[in-house]
Amino acid sequence: MKHLLHFIFSLIAAHVFAASSVSTLEIARSEANRFFGADRVQIEVIAKAPVPPEGFIVHRNRDGWQLLASTPVGALYGVYDLIRRSPRGIPDHFSDSPALPLRILNHWDNLDGTVERGYAGHSIWKWDVPLSETDRDLYTRYARINARVGINGAVLNNVNASPRILSEEKLKRVAEIADILRPYGIKTYLSVNFASPMALDSLSSADPLLPEVQQWWKNKAAQIYGLIPDFGGFLVKANSEGQPGPMDFGRSHADGANMLADALAPYGGVVMWRAFVYSPSDNDRAKQAYLEFQPLDGQFRDNVIVQIKNGPVDFQPREPYSPLFGATPSTSQMAELQITQEYLGHSNHLAFLAPMWSEFFDFVPPSGLKGVAGVANVGDTDNLTGHPLAMANWYAFGRMAWNPELTPDRIAEEWIRSYLVETSTPENVISDLTDMFTESHEAVVDYMMPLGLHHIFAFGHHYGPEPWCDVPGAREDWLPRYYHRADHNGIGFDRTSKGSDAVSQYPEPFRSTFANIEQCPDEFILWFHHLPWNYKMKSGNNLWEELCFHYQRGVDKVGDFQNIWNTAAPYLEPTLYADVKGRLQTQKKDAEWWRDACLSYFGELACLPLPTGIPAPKHTLSHYKSIHLPITNYECPSAALLDSVR
Ligand code: GCU
Repeated sequence: MKHLLHFIFSLIAAHVFAASSVSTLEIARSEANRFFGADRVQIEVIAKAPVPPEGFIVHRNRDGWQLLASTPVGALYGVYDLIRRSPRGIPDHFSDSPALPLRILNHWDNLDGTVERGYAGHSIWKWDVPLSETDRDLYTRYARINARVGINGAVLNNVNASPRILSEEKLKRVAEIADILRPYGIKTYLSVNFASPMALDSLSSADPLLPEVQQWWKNKAAQIYGLIPDFGGFLVKANSEGQPGPMDFGRSHADGANMLADALAPYGGVVMWRAFVYSPSDNDRAKQAYLEFQPLDGQFRDNVIVQIKNGPVDFQPREPYSPLFGATPSTSQMAELQITQEYLGHSNHLAFLAPMWSEFFDFVPPSGLKGVAGVANVGDTDNLTGHPLAMANWYAFGRMAWNPELTPDRIAEEWIRSYLVETSTPENVISDLTDMFTESHEAVVDYMMPLGLHHIFAFGHHYGPEPWCDVPGAREDWLPRYYHRADHNGIGFDRTSKGSDAVSQYPEPFRSTFANIEQCPDEFILWFHHLPWNYKMKSGNNLWEELCFHYQRGVDKVGDFQNIWNTAAPYLEPTLYADVKGRLQTQKKDAEWWRDACLSYFGELACLPLPTGIPAPKHTLSHYKSIHLPITNYECPSAALLDSVR
């Protein structure tokens, strides 16, 4: 290795940079000089160096470090890695490169400035007014945050896409944004509405097999690449939740995706075609992505990637992995994770998500994926993410997209040292904060939906408990009872061969593990099994008791987090300390609300008393049922609003 390094560094002097790459390199140099002092890091980019395109090799020398990359963006990532390593000491030699080529943020941002499931203010993207210096500075700040963790793509708009994003006026704005993001190694992508040719240009059909429709998309691709030569491609939500798609014209997902792929192929663009599909007619929503997409394996063009949510339902606090992963060996796949906390307490709750994503990658080997997308938690609020600690989730997404094997505690600790506490912070405080981060997701699962329960949220905005929810006329698969199936006899969704048989979509050994009640992990037990309330759990408790203890454990954990946070106060910036302290108070009250509401409701069905140690609910079940938060799908409820209702 050392010989190779010397050989590589001896080539350095001869290299000449391409003009177009200068600005990324300038950023790399100025970041290095700013952080380490002038010329302490010698950066060299050699196109033919044996370093992966986005990777780097670092070698300590007498004056500092030599950093070698084969592309400017590799050099930039190398500088950021040096900076990241510095609080813990920089090794003499190291190298790195990303495990996954596509590491993309998906913004669910609408053209009117709202953000679907966004809890950090409005969209940062401006569509209707000229960009100000403040906007440009914000976009640069955004790009830098992404580059620091290796995120290399951004889909700017909501998957529920307005056709207007493809109008000339909006595309010019996309080009302006792309120009700002490009030097940081970020490609720009767009979500597109499948019926755009009809909406924008009055074509009578969007049938992907019609030549005039194909030509429309080819012209559109030419227009886009004329403005944005390195445009990344399209993200498509088709025939899902009311969005148009090829099936409206009797065609398949493959027909639709391939038509778009053909339009983008001459320019190197990709189509990320989402597998988030379900219809009320099937007996189990969890089976539908697999049922629709697995038979299409082998029918997609090479530049189509099927983008699959981590779990088979919809970003629940905990889901088993989607069985579609690995089930289409001849089709490229990428994973879609949710950074924004739609189902995890919005920006009121601390839920560090690296443990959840790590669990996912334990089941789904990254080697089978082309990339990973994260639904962004970014908005125009000062700290960009609402909850100040939610920035750690954006960070963790990037770090894990780069290297899915990084452990959650390492990522948490890196972020805490780099962005949260002062350098004088004692190690035991850092260690407690790290534990708080890594235990926070499980705490949320415990006080919301333990043991594999899922989708028992309030209707629409998904904040707070509503296992009883009944909306006249609503689709059955949008109602909590569809998922928990609780009655006087028991609770849980039977997905074994005696029920919906969703287990049969999993390969061995998971199929047998999930199907076998003795082997099924407790955390998935009510996802796969319907059990009587007095079912004897592995712990020796019956199911009802176990459920109660989990809810209580979640509440207690939040109390622990409050103590840890208070102990860390002297090492935290005072405004940030106070902000998070307030949010933890809200989280604690919400956790109690979840526990009391769910145990009141399930307790009435189970007809069993609360076990010792579980406090009686503060209010009656009818009080909990009467709570309705007047918020949209774009809002996080305020502490004052919550205090006034729960
Ligand atoms: C969820 C979410 C929607 C979103 C959808 C999607 O259902 O609640 O707001 O549009 O996922 O991923 O397409």
